[in-house]
Amino acid sequence: MATVHNLIALAIAFTALVAVVSPATYKEGDQVTVYVNKVGPYFNPHETYHYYQLPVCRPEKIEHKSLTLGEVLDGDRMAHSLYDIKFRTDVPSKKVLCNVKYTQKELDILRSAIEDLYYFEFVLDDIPIRGFIGHLEEGGFLPHNHKIYLWAHLHFNIEYNKDHIIYANVTTKDQLPISLDGATTPMELVFTYSVKWMNTDLSYEDRGTRLRDNSFFPKNLEIHWLSIINSLVLVFLLIGFVVIIMTRVLKSDFARYNIEDEEDADDLDSDDNGWKIIRTDVFRFPPNKNLFCAILGVGSQFLALATGILLMAMAGMFNVHRHGAINAAAVVLYAFTSSISGYVASNMFKKMGGENWVWNINLTSALFALPFFLVWAVINSVAWAYGTTRALPASTVILLMALWVFIGYPLTVLGGIFGKNYAGSFAAPCRTKNIAREIPDVPWYRSAVAHCAIGGFLPFSAISVELYYIFATLWGREQYTLFGILFVVYGILLSVTACISIALTYFQLSAEDYRWWWRSIFSAGSTGVFVFLYALFYYYKRSNMSGLLQTLEFLGYTALTCYVFFLMLATVSFFASLKFVRYIYVNIKMD
Ligand SMILES: *[C@@H]1O[C@H](CO)[C@@H](O)[C@H](O)[C@H]1NC(C)=O
Repeated sequence: MATVHNLIALAIAFTALVAVVSPATYKEGDQVTVYVNKVGPYFNPHETYHYYQLPVCRPEKIEHKSLTLGEVLDGDRMAHSLYDIKFRTDVPSKKVLCNVKYTQKELDILRSAIEDLYYFEFVLDDIPIRGFIGHLEEGGFLPHNHKIYLWAHLHFNIEYNKDHIIYANVTTKDQLPISLDGATTPMELVFTYSVKWMNTDLSYEDRGTRLRDNSFFPKNLEIHWLSIINSLVLVFLLIGFVVIIMTRVLKSDFARYNIEDEEDADDLDSDDNGWKIIRTDVFRFPPNKNLFCAILGVGSQFLALATGILLMAMAGMFNVHRHGAINAAAVVLYAFTSSISGYVASNMFKKMGGENWVWNINLTSALFALPFFLVWAVINSVAWAYGTTRALPASTVILLMALWVFIGYPLTVLGGIFGKNYAGSFAAPCRTKNIAREIPDVPWYRSAVAHCAIGGFLPFSAISVELYYIFATLWGREQYTLFGILFVVYGILLSVTACISIALTYFQLSAEDYRWWWRSIFSAGSTGVFVFLYALFYYYKRSNMSGLLQTLEFLGYTALTCYVFFLMLATVSFFASLKFVRYIYVNIKMD
């Protein structure tokens, strides 16, 4: 039953992504529902608890609001509150919300929440309203002490325009806070609230901007245009250099090879060197074809997914003041783009002469889903043990699994069958000899490790400026709105990867090493390692996150993200190299 409910919720979530939600209208005196949502430490954006887990005013019977998938994924758990607010009806003087009698244990819970700088989030007409639970006053230096205060009065400011609510916030400072130090139990507290309605000229469409400009969370997302432009220029120069040098070098190579061909075609192998000499090996298929093709398949799927999400975001399909919509869209799109991974993987597998396509498709569908599931299972179990709202409820878990089992997996298989049936031959420009050539030793700067360092670092440096913003969006509470820039950076990342990959493959082939297949995967894929190192730096230096749960979640999901980077860039890198290798070997005269 819960699953059916959730499936409906999912359908609604998905339509909500696409359709514009029609605004709620009120008449004077209409009830305006305030939902309580979550609480959590201010600096741990992904550690949130249900509001009613704190000892606060709560109704006799807690009634939950049904949520969309995006909201559930974002840790939202909304429930009705006791606040009685009527449209355009002020509550000028303090109105009693409830009395709470505290036991020692409850008081301790409240105290430690205030010490951890807990904030709360309510939702009023889809507008998140946030404020601090209490107030911490740092006292003397030696001996160190601090004073703990609780805000027991909330003042709601609500702006309206005709029959719409445009903006709302709460202020806590209208009444002095209550000191919780040295309080004796049982202690009785009175919670109160007041409401002020204000007319505004802002239209309903401006709600988003109004919310962004008055965010409760710090806005450190000043875009450093100069550094972004700087990195763009560098990247264009880099790409330009690579292209110019490669074309010149290739031109002279072609000239040399094709003249040599005419002069002494008979004993070419004896005094020739460079990439032409390995033409009988360069199209020798690599070992572990199965895994190789699976990586390309899943990489292609994520390329499509990332492009799709960015395009949707640019088209303004996501509600900007709520995070979850993008997560929900990613989950749904992941399931629906699975056919791409199946198609690409089994198509390539067949071309490379692979036999057991069933195993290949299964490997493809597990390549991301399995690590994801494992990481998620560990994090979710810990979150469950902590009792946070980040732990997905069982019904959502079932829904997500159903999404994979009934949509993701079948589509992978379907794509795989199509891919296998439509695969032509590999059509290599040169015949591969049965016996492999010996590979000469290379100096250290041409080794695989050096290639991975270069191939990973350059694409990483192209995006490093932007990475900070991406992390701040994913792991902070900033709303990323410059999807246009992100799209440009994404395009640049892929172009740099392709260029570097081609250059490195060229160097490798000139050193008469024909094992470029796996090398091209790892040289560019190693960007993921750099991104992970950056993430560690971000976690320890730039964020104030702490605690086991938050650390685990950060490391787990960051590792997965870097894995996705690896898959995407490896795919771009390999296909770019493949095109390049085909191109150069088609263009030399064969004997
Ligand atoms: C809350 O809203 C009121 C009225 O709209 C505004 O004057 C006030 O500055 C806001 N407070 C905060 C902290 O944003």
